[in-house]
Amino acid sequence: MFPERRMRRLRQNPAVRSLVQECSIAVDKLVLPVFVSDLIEAPSPIRAMPGVFQWPVARVGEFAKESWQKGLKGMMLFGIPRLKDSKGSEASNPDGVVSRAIKEVKDKAPQMLLMADVCLCEYTDHGHCGLLNGYEVDNDATLPELAKAALAYANAGVDVVAPSDMMDGRVEAVRTALDGEGFIHTPVLSYAVKFASAFYGPFREAANSAPQFGDRRSYQMNPANAKEALLEAELDISEGADMLLVKPALPYLDVLRATKEMAPLPVGAYQVSGEYSMIKAAAQAGYLEEARTVLESLLAITRAGADFILTYFALDVLEDVG
Ligand code: PBG
Repeated sequence: MFPERRMRRLRQNPAVRSLVQECSIAVDKLVLPVFVSDLIEAPSPIRAMPGVFQWPVARVGEFAKESWQKGLKGMMLFGIPRLKDSKGSEASNPDGVVSRAIKEVKDKAPQMLLMADVCLCEYTDHGHCGLLNGYEVDNDATLPELAKAALAYANAGVDVVAPSDMMDGRVEAVRTALDGEGFIHTPVLSYAVKFASAFYGPFREAANSAPQFGDRRSYQMNPANAKEALLEAELDISEGADMLLVKPALPYLDVLRATKEMAPLPVGAYQVSGEYSMIKAAAQAGYLEEARTVLESLLAITRAGADFILTYFALDVLEDVG
């Protein structure tokens, strides 16, 4: 009790503050999401995400190499194909944008931990994450397409496949397909806990993946539900997921903590496009100090239990912390 107990004793100077700091941001826990596009010849800025670019396949290897030299350890690839169709066929084309980008990155930055997002929304002309049956997204018909895409990326040399579509049963479908072709050591990072979120807005511009009708609420989770996240996580663990992801991050710290507590697996968090754009916009308007806000948000995500973080700020953080 005061005056014997004085909390300020351990806040007096930087040395004692860092001595008792309970967690910190580790640069080797950051993964940068990267957009590769078959529609461009030069890096192309994304309007809603200042500082983030789409990369042509021919340049993404060089970008990965420079990023590795700056200390980045992991990347998650998203593809924007030349052609879209109703089945999202380009997702699994061995000569498609992501498969070629994987080879390019592995060629120029072989040690980079390379992940590929597995989903159909960037490849379907209707923009939904699965095949359609009328106006419904057909869960079971989508599974083989996702498995084919994961297999194509594994064949191209990716280190980790990350299904983000939220179809039921997709982790098992992907795992079975990988094992069937001998990719027994390719981990599956499941976006197990993915909410139907307005914070994905800027991503849909970045990945040209906005749904042409309706929304994603029939497959992504209701933002009101936390208990449901535990069941999602449990199912994906039983289907063979090696790691789980919670997404978005900052608005869902309670869910992240609960998932981390129940899951005997590494749990990552995805600081999504809208979280990035909000900080950028406020910083550009002079309302927030960018670097401090970014570090605080990543610290909060770490404190809540994230074992690793996907963030568009990864390279900026390397400069600030690294
Ligand atoms: C879907 C996917 C999305 C994101 C990652 N994978 C978008 C969506 O579900 O609509 C969002 C990432 C972000 O907002 O940064 N394939």
